Amino acid sequence: MVSEITLRRPDDMHLHLRDGAMMRAVLPETTRHFARAIVMPNLVPPVVTSRDASAYRDRILAELPADAAFEPLMTLYLTEATDPADLVAAHESGLIKAVKLYPAGATTNSQSGVRDFEKIRAVLDAMAETGVPLCVHGEVTDPSVDIFDREAAFIDRVLDPIRRATPGLRVVMEHVTTKDGVDYARSGGPDLAATITTHHLVINRNHILAGGIRPHYYCLPVAKREKHRLALRAAATSGEARFFLGTDSAPHPDHLKEHACGCAGCFTATNTMPLLAHIFEEETALDRLEAFASINGATFYGLPLNEARLTLKKRDAAMVWPEKIGTEAGPVTVFDPGFPVFWHVSE
Ligand code: DOR
Ligand code: ZN
Repeated sequence: MVSEITLRRPDDMHLHLRDGAMMRAVLPETTRHFARAIVMPNLVPPVVTSRDASAYRDRILAELPADAAFEPLMTLYLTEATDPADLVAAHESGLIKAVKLYPAGATTNSQSGVRDFEKIRAVLDAMAETGVPLCVHGEVTDPSVDIFDREAAFIDRVLDPIRRATPGLRVVMEHVTTKDGVDYARSGGPDLAATITTHHLVINRNHILAGGIRPHYYCLPVAKREKHRLALRAAATSGEARFFLGTDSAPHPDHLKEHACGCAGCFTATNTMPLLAHIFEEETALDRLEAFASINGATFYGLPLNEARLTLKKRDAAMVWPEKIGTEAGPVTVFDPGFPVFWHVSE
């Protein structure tokens, strides 16, 4: 039985760091284990221009823990008014690694996102020409579509038409939650990839709703039925280059989660790596964890592989992590998988 594995240091290809005091509180949770992260731009107001991204990057770098070797990989938030020239220049200079598409109203701080996909045609064409990856929040916002069907509907109604109309566009389907998403990702060539979160490998919709409502398991896209979780586990542990880790770790203070209209987001930065070791061991795929967490994402984004390493050890005692991370805005609850985890990151 394998009880120790050493990986290239992982990258988190989808992370919410927020800003100000919240960012200061959650940054160490990521920098402790991860070398790099694709940083989401859904601040209020959002990170829309190269100037916004540069200023946000400076704020992150200023708050890094003293001993952290961590590189934030910046993104822009796509709006109907995005200037293609600014976006392309930001990518060519290395400032940004991707552009994030939020359908307006799909999720937290998505109000400035896209309503009319025709209005982003020119931007998408410029991105395809210059190889800028588009990270997609793949849910339709049509209120008549059941929330559990919104990912599948987005693929048919929005994503597939965009990809057909924009040959060469590099797309990351963010946080896929369905077998439909996994199958669609597999239908594409090397221009198409998908991130998978830690929590969607652990929970299905029963965890949120059966036996009482558990707001800390509520995120968007919402966890689906068990057959979808199993498809995600098979994809993540397959070793296929198109699937890689994006935790979508998204801090919200408890009082906004435990609320009549609670915010979407699971906070998994703290315990993602031990959880992934647990899951990959269950799937007898520990030898593929490095591909998922440390290689496939970097390769898709054309980044050098991390030379530093991270070692995980399986111990007799279960791992103990803080139940909550203290922040000036209130405590943030760390994702609880509901089972003991015996893998520890060896510090
Ligand atoms: O659960 C989520 N939380 N999904 C998202 O798409 C956004 C994120 C957030 O920013 O809190
Ligand atoms: Zn996200």
